[in-house]
Amino acid sequence: MSNGPLSAVSLIAAKRDGRELSGVEISWLIESYLAGSVAEEQMAAMLMAIYFNSLTRSELVALTRSIIGSGEQMDLSRLSKPTVDKHSTGGVGDKVSLILAPMVAAMGAAVPQLSGRGLGHTGGTLDKLESIPGWRSELSRAEVVKGLEEVGCVICAAGPGLAPADRRLYALRDVTATVESIPLIAASIISKKVAEGTSALLLDVKVGRGAFMKSLERATELARTMVDLGGDFGVSTKAVLSAMDDPLGRAVGNSVEVAEAVEVLAGGGPADLVDLCVELAGGMGELARIDADPLRVLGDGSAMDRYRAMVAAQGGDPAAELPRARIVERVTSVGAGFVSSVDALKVGEVAWKLGAGRSRKEDSVSATAGVICLAKAGDRVAVGQPVFEIHADDPALLATAEAELRGALSIASSPGPSRPLILGRLG
Ligand code: URA
Repeated sequence: MSNGPLSAVSLIAAKRDGRELSGVEISWLIESYLAGSVAEEQMAAMLMAIYFNSLTRSELVALTRSIIGSGEQMDLSRLSKPTVDKHSTGGVGDKVSLILAPMVAAMGAAVPQLSGRGLGHTGGTLDKLESIPGWRSELSRAEVVKGLEEVGCVICAAGPGLAPADRRLYALRDVTATVESIPLIAASIISKKVAEGTSALLLDVKVGRGAFMKSLERATELARTMVDLGGDFGVSTKAVLSAMDDPLGRAVGNSVEVAEAVEVLAGGGPADLVDLCVELAGGMGELARIDADPLRVLGDGSAMDRYRAMVAAQGGDPAAELPRARIVERVTSVGAGFVSSVDALKVGEVAWKLGAGRSRKEDSVSATAGVICLAKAGDRVAVGQPVFEIHADDPALLATAEAELRGALSIASSPGPSRPLILGRLG
């Protein structure tokens, strides 16, 4: 720790040269940045120094504490049920939250999912739910608590008062190529979960070409860092590492993903999606110390009841027909054999360009644009068989989408080995 008055330049130099910053220095830095006396370019330099030199565990705890302290903290300790939340690092076709929150509510816990919006090729849960007529993402604190007590789950937008320092830092990381720093990701995610007031947290860390983390090694390091950090703040935290090479389920988009989530809640749906939901619901049940069977709540309709109640509590009509794209066109296979992979990144990018995702956080998204993967890895396909369905609002986008989807499908002459969905568990 430096003697004398603190200055941004000396703290940047210390981090650049690999010296450990004290808790006092980190909290001064964050407070001064929010107050405007540490400039954007100074914080940008600090983020880059952290990107290269990482943070020690005590620096990481101090940074996370400062981000939490920049805003309000929800107190959910008076709820009559244990709280447990899930965070996914984001994947293509990842509509798990829509299924999991009502499942775990039906198992007897309260799930406070305060979410952000999607950026880039991975979609956002709020964007998906907003395709339901009437559904609204903005809730007051009292509505969140009421929803948790009465329904057992709430999925809503994190208000501006929750970890505001993270919003500023994330926007700066986005334009300074410092998003991919493991300690910065961990501080960003864990600070919001601690501020939201959950007692327990299950992390779904995605690994593969459609994920943020492309290698198992990096994903494991991120998972370990977040599990430890959650524990440092008294949040019982575990992590599951799950494969994200191929899209999860079949649907990629907004209303098409809601429709698929409802299919799972009705007892059907693609096997990989069901398996992941059951795995995560089991993990959340353990964290909340609830002895309930995730398969039972899917089979007996109780998870579906919670889903309907959650949608209705937020102004949505669960019985309303979901909006459908003006154009639905099928893409057929030009080869025959066994599907060896469907490239999640390519499919995610097609759905994004069709309008399902946004490039800048101010952009709006199409409720109806998206892609359905009619063929999944392991399936046998013949020439001329439909392998994708494009859902589009703009006919001018069809030709490119079709060509890019063809490039996303790999076909082999014999079936390949089946690839595991769950790659590891931590905590
Ligand atoms: N999601 C977050 O909330 N923060 C990050 O830094 C990365 C992903």
